Amino acid sequence: MTTTSKPSFTSGRAIQDESTQRPRVNVTGAIPERVRASLAADFELADSVEGVDGILALLPTRVDDELIGRAGRQLRIVANYGVGVDNIDLEAARSRGIVVANTPDVLTKATAEQAIALTLALLRRVAEGDRFLRRGAEWRFSVEFMLGESLDGKTVAIVGPGRIGRETARLAEAHGAAVLFVGRGDSLHDALRVADVVSLHVPATAATRHLIDADALAAMKSTAVLVNTARGTIVDEAALVEALRSGRIAGAALDVFEFEPHVSAGLLELENVVLTPHLGSATRETREAMGLLAASALRSLLIDGVVPPNVVT
Ligand code: DGY
Repeated sequence: MTTTSKPSFTSGRAIQDESTQRPRVNVTGAIPERVRASLAADFELADSVEGVDGILALLPTRVDDELIGRAGRQLRIVANYGVGVDNIDLEAARSRGIVVANTPDVLTKATAEQAIALTLALLRRVAEGDRFLRRGAEWRFSVEFMLGESLDGKTVAIVGPGRIGRETARLAEAHGAAVLFVGRGDSLHDALRVADVVSLHVPATAATRHLIDADALAAMKSTAVLVNTARGTIVDEAALVEALRSGRIAGAALDVFEFEPHVSAGLLELENVVLTPHLGSATRETREAMGLLAASALRSLLIDGVVPPNVVT
């Protein structure tokens, strides 16, 4: 805590005495200095959630009923440092009238780039070749050596045609791929039967949990690959390991994991798998832009009294 004064309450809301008190915000993890400075200009940054008016929530913190309750009745807004809000109990927030904001748009390009980077790394065996050389394996150039696949001419199924899905499609098309969008009303299995690359871009909800299960993997072509830059729970990871081991599908490129940060041992053993540790939006510019957008949501509600545009609840 950086203050000794206690907030006062009326109808569950803190009274902000402009002369002495600024709204109090707790940030649940490490953030770029530029974002911290922006917050510090307008808010009192608290070390814990108790008694704060706003929370800037970062993974892996789960903003659940218990944490919201612990914060207290004066809590007015949870600004998530991310577009996915599966780390927040939306119902607990909604029932208490707490605004939940997220960071759409600013991370669209970075996340789509990561989806394509992973796709190319898998198809062109970039990570596998890197591992091969680091092992000190003997080699010489040969026309049949470590052949991969080109994205050019392939069919990419974009499961979830939202902002990131559509941007990934644009980049895939720029590489010469044909795109198939799979939205809510479309048959996932019809797309899985014809796609060479299946790229996931749906949010993590009860409805999308294990969307890619053993049946879905069985519907894919044996030459096809799965790319997940969305959320780990969308894929049944045990079924995926089995499908990869048995050659049911040709490979997987994963930025997110069902039991994150744990990565299934079966995935770590396989050469036809490319793994990155949840780096979808991880560029300096993007992470700063996300933080500044979240800060502006806090400012909008707590200082200007205006509900921010990027609101989820
Ligand atoms: C997002 O914005 O959802 C990213 O995955 C980081 O949380």
